[in-house]
Amino acid sequence: MSKIDENIGRVLFSEEQIRNRVLEIGKRISEDYKDKEPLMIGILKGSAVFMSDLLRAIDIPCRIAFLTARSYGLNTTSSGKVNMDEDIERALGTKVEGEHIIIVEDILDTALTLSTVCEKIRELKPASLKVCTLMDKQVQRSIDFKADYKCFDVENEFVVGYGVDYAENYRNLPYIGVLKPEIYSK
Ligand code: XMP
Ligand code: MG
Repeated sequence: MSKIDENIGRVLFSEEQIRNRVLEIGKRISEDYKDKEPLMIGILKGSAVFMSDLLRAIDIPCRIAFLTARSYGLNTTSSGKVNMDEDIERALGTKVEGEHIIIVEDILDTALTLSTVCEKIRELKPASLKVCTLMDKQVQRSIDFKADYKCFDVENEFVVGYGVDYAENYRNLPYIGVLKPEIYSK
């Protein structure tokens, strides 16, 4: 057992479960967008691993870009404030107007982050806008918000791995797990 595995109390989704589910969602996106060329926007940093697998599960022409937005900081609860790139098109390196946008996120929690990001993207007049999240913590929702695509529902537990961090660590775990409470209550 590695140094990081030791801090995981329970595995929620194995590598194989993640692989299968990401393939399913990629197939659905490929069908839904078969006559379009979507621009997928990953929210950094948590979506980076998910994005790289999802992208390869899609078999139609598509492009990617990334945007930084965060509401958690170094804690295990949302700060209630979203920090994001000011000049979106500059950060993306591409225009949004007329594009079919799919936002790719790691976890949809209170929905503060994604509702803020979507509002700003809508101002730039995309042809369409959908949201794809790896995990959905519905019990935590403070804003009415639904993901168009999601891989997994999760309970109100602090999860890490497969790109998702605790204080910038654990992103490199190939599976998704729950941290031992003593790790973040220290
Ligand atoms: P909101 O509340 O804005 O939060 O929907 C979404 C962001 O919060 C982060 N988040 C987590 N990060 N483990 C994490 O490492 C978690 O259990 C967790 N829950 C939410 C996440 O980065 C997401 O972008
Ligand atoms: Mg995130």
